[in-house]
Order: sequence, then structure tokens, then C-alpha cells
Amino acid sequence: MLEELFNRVSIRHYQNREVEQAKLEEMLRAAMNAPTARNTQSWRFLVITNRETLNHMTELQPYTGMMKEAYCAILVMGDRNANPVDEYLYVDAAAAIENMLIEGVHQGLGTCWCAVGPSKERISKFKEYFHLKDHLLPVAVVAVGYSAEDKKRIDQYDPEKVSYYR
Ligand SMILES: Cc1cc2nc3c(=O)[nH]c(=O)nc-3n(C[C@H](O)[C@H](O)[C@H](O)COP(=O)(O)O)c2cc1C
Repeated sequence: MLEELFNRVSIRHYQNREVEQAKLEEMLRAAMNAPTARNTQSWRFLVITNRETLNHMTELQPYTGMMKEAYCAILVMGDRNANPVDEYLYVDAAAAIENMLIEGVHQGLGTCWCAVGPSKERISKFKEYFHLKDHLLPVAVVAVGYSAEDKKRIDQYDPEKVSYYR
């Protein structure tokens, strides 16, 4: 298996260390090379490095405590002008996020995917806080930083979850 894919784990503790802009750009490049329905490339990204905002994130989504230690958060949004079907925006965003997380491992970084949608309450809190235009759907927010955890992947492969139609 691809080493980076196997080594990806959710990281919730980070070093107090700056992440190089070039590494963030490689993660965003990986995200934007994911497949999208009808090739709409419907994702939009907001890179949040403002410390006050990162510290405040748990007020918008309670399970984002790691943002207080992360170097930045990347808010992944779907653009309804690009694709009017929200389900596709979620799927497009999810593919982009996973690419981003795997590229993060390749860059020596830790990440944690935190959901925003489909909770209506969280969506409206993010829209309000970041003054997002109506056509933007906040899907998830990804913590990024140098890991302060020593966490190892345990292989989750389970043949019981697979059936074959021959
Ligand atoms: C859609 C989605 C939403 C998630 N939301 C959160 C979250 O709000 N907070 C958090 O700490 N982790 C969140 N996670 C991370 C999961 O908890 C994590 O992926 C899972 O426990 C498996 O661990 P692993 O990522 O280390 O393999 C989310 C993951 C996904 C895919």
C-alpha cells in the first residue's frame, strides 16, 4: 500500500512550529487534483492562520480542540454556483480532503479532518463568523501542523466487510 496513505492518522496535538507556505500549497494542489462530479472542481478553500480564530473554533464546532495547537486550519467549502446539488459538493470536498491529508503526510505534517456540514447549526455558525457568501457551503475544517503525537496506524483491513459479485 502507498506508505503515506497507510501512515495517515488524525493528529490532535501539534508542535508550536510554523508550517512552510510551500507545503500548504502542495496540500492544496493535491486537493485540487481530486476527481469531482462533472469536473466542476466545486471546492473552495479558506486557509486560517489567525490565532484568535483558531482558539475560537470550538465555539463554532465543539470537537475542534486541536485547532488551539494547530498551525492553521483549512476550511473546505463547496460552491453551489459550480454544482447546485449539495450531495455532490460533500462528495467532491471529501475526495479533495483525503488527497490533502495524504499529501500532508508526504510533507511530514499532521492533520485532522473535522466536520462542519451537514449540521445546519454548524453551517450557519461558520457562515456567520467568516461572512461566507450564500452560495458557499462549509463542509469541513482541517487542522494542519507538525505533529506532537507518536501515533501509529493499525491496519483496519477487514475481509468480512467485502463481498464479491461474480
Ligand atoms: C466526516 C468526518 C468528520 C470528522 N470530524 C471530526 C471532528 O469533528 N473532530 C475530530 O477530532 N475528528 C474528526 N474526524 C476524525 C475521525 O474521528 C477519525 O478519522 C477517526 O476516529 C479514525 O481515526 P484516524 O483518522 O486516525 O484513522 C472526522 C472524520 C471524518 C471523516
